[in-house]
Formats: sequence, structure tokens, C-alpha cells
Amino acid sequence: MKILIAYYSDTGNTEKIAQAVERLLSDQQVSIARVRPVKDGLFTKVLSALLRRKPAVEAAVTDLEGFDLLVIGAPIWCGRPAPPINSYLEELQNCAGKRAVTFVSSRVGGYRDSLTKKSEEKGLQVLETLAFEKAILEEAELARLKEAVERCQQK
Ligand SMILES: Cc1cc2nc3c(=O)[nH]c(=O)nc-3n(C[C@H](O)[C@H](O)[C@H](O)COP(=O)(O)O)c2cc1C
Repeated sequence: MKILIAYYSDTGNTEKIAQAVERLLSDQQVSIARVRPVKDGLFTKVLSALLRRKPAVEAAVTDLEGFDLLVIGAPIWCGRPAPPINSYLEELQNCAGKRAVTFVSSRVGGYRDSLTKKSEEKGLQVLETLAFEKAILEEAELARLKEAVERCQQK
């Protein structure tokens, strides 16, 4: 299967999870799209999250044509996915009906459904939602990803 792992990471936690996901799916054809980090200070980031701003972003892949699955991840800012991932989702082409797994990283863990809602608004079919505390690679979450990929392959 052709899988795109797309993520935004500010301080490296989400990136560590994305790298673990890449290792886990090493038997698949995996491409990576890191959404280019913004250089804002903490105050601007908080404001950006609270005001639901859509900062300009760049990423290596912005079209899902030819991919079978999108694994998309972001940190949580003020209870929501960090704004750069919303900008990325907005730019992403050929989402309708594509299968996806979402993952988020936050200080306290949880917020499982926040990125899922955004992804579904783009027409993505979300198979699994994973939530991590910082960069702690919770085995149960990674196992759910693996199971989702296996379900995808059987269809
Ligand atoms: C502006 C901002 C707002 C945040 N808001 C929350 C929050 O509401 N809840 C939470 O648990 N963590 C919050 N965090 C912590 C991050 O979600 C957490 O550190 C995450 O692992 C960072 O991922 P990254 O290293 O990939 O950027 C916030 C961090 C920043 C910078």
C-alpha cells in the first residue's frame, strides 16, 4: 500500500511519533510530508490557536492522488490541533473518500477526536484515532494503527 505520513511538529514530539509510525510501516511504500514549522513565539501560537488562524505552510506532498492511506498527526494547542495542520488539510487535494488515521500529541494525552473532526470535514474516511502523551510511544495506540493498516489491506 502507498501511505503518506503527514505531520506538523514544533518541538519534536509529534515528529518522534511520526518516525515510530514510519518504522512500524516499513513493509509498506511510505512517503513523508513534514509541514514546515512556523517560527512564531509562544504568544502568537496561543493566539493563532484561539483565533483559529490558518498560517501559510509548506509541505512536500499536498495531493493524495495515488495514495491508499493518509496518516496525519499534529500537536494539540489550546485543546485543538495546531493551526499549521489545519492549513495543510485545507490545501490537501483528492481527499474525498480516502482512508486516514489521525494522531495527536499533547502534554496531558487525550484530545483523540480533535484532528479527526477536521479530517472528516475534508471528506477523509477516518479509520482510527490515536492519542499520545508527548512522545511516549504507547504500544496500544501503535497496535491500533497496525490493525487499521491490516484492515485496509484486506479490502
Ligand atoms: C501554544 C501551545 C498550546 C498548547 N496547548 C496544550 C493543551 O491545550 N493541552 C495539552 O495537553 N498540551 C498543550 N500543549 C503542549 C503540546 O501539545 C505538547 O507539548 C506536544 O507534545 C507538542 O508536540 P510537538 O513537540 O510535536 O510540537 C500546547 C503547546 C503549545 C506550544
